[in-house]
Amino acid sequence: MSRVYECLTKIGETITENKDFLTDLDREIGDADHGINMTRGFHAVAEKVPSDLEDIGAALKKAGMTLLSTVGGASGPLYGTAYMEAGKVMAGKTEMTAEDFKAALEAAIAGIQKRGKAVKGEKTMLDALIPALDAYTAAIEGGADMGAGLEEACKAANEGIEFTKTIIATKGRASYLGERSIGHQDPGATSATLTLETIRDFVKA
Ligand SMILES: Nc1ncnc2c1ncn2[C@@H]1O[C@H](COP(=O)(O)OP(=O)(O)O)[C@@H](O)[C@H]1O
Ligand SMILES: [Mg+2]
Repeated sequence: MSRVYECLTKIGETITENKDFLTDLDREIGDADHGINMTRGFHAVAEKVPSDLEDIGAALKKAGMTLLSTVGGASGPLYGTAYMEAGKVMAGKTEMTAEDFKAALEAAIAGIQKRGKAVKGEKTMLDALIPALDAYTAAIEGGADMGAGLEEACKAANEGIEFTKTIIATKGRASYLGERSIGHQDPGATSATLTLETIRDFVKA
C-alpha cells in the first residue's frame, strides 16, 4: 500500500467516525447531509484510488475526481477541486516535503476560492483552512518540520472552528439562516480540521 493511499484511507476513517457529528452540525445550519456526503465520497476514494499508486499527484487527482462525482452538495465540488489542485502541485512526486505540503495546501485553498467565491470570515471551510495555512507557513519558515508545522496548523484550524461560531454565514445553505447561524460551528470547517488532524497524526506516527 502506498503512503498516499494509506493517508487518504485514514482521512476517510476519520470522516466516517465523525459522520453523525458532521451531519448533526449540518442539521443545525444546513440540511443534515455533510457527514453522509463526505463518508460516501471517501468510501468511493478508497475503492477508486489504486492502493499501490506511489505518485502522490496522481492519487490526489483521482481522489479529487472521485469526491467531485460522489460527494454532491456544495462541499463535493469544493473538496474535489481542493484535492485535484493539490494533485497538480504534487504531480510525479512520490514523497512530500514540508514545502510541498505548503504549496499543496495553498493550491487547494486557491481552488476552493475560485470555485466557491468565498473569502475568510463567511463561515465556511476556509475559516479553518486559511488560518491553518498561515500558521503552517510561519512555522516552517521558522524552521519547523512538517509534523511540527501541522501541529500549529491544527491549532489554528481549531481556533477557526471557534471563530465560525461567532459569525453569520454568507455563503452556502447556512446563509439562508442569516443571524440565526450565529452560535453554530460550521460543518465544513469541522471536516477540514479533522482532515488536517488526520494528516498531522499520519505524518507524526
Ligand atoms: N462557497 C463556499 N465556499 C467554501 N465553502 C463552502 C461554500 N459553500 C458551502 N461551503 C462549505 O460546505 C459546507 C456544507 O457542505 P454540505 O452540507 O456537504 O453541502 P450542502 O450545503 O450543499 O448541503 C459548509 O459547512 C461550508 O463549510
Ligand atoms: Mg448540507
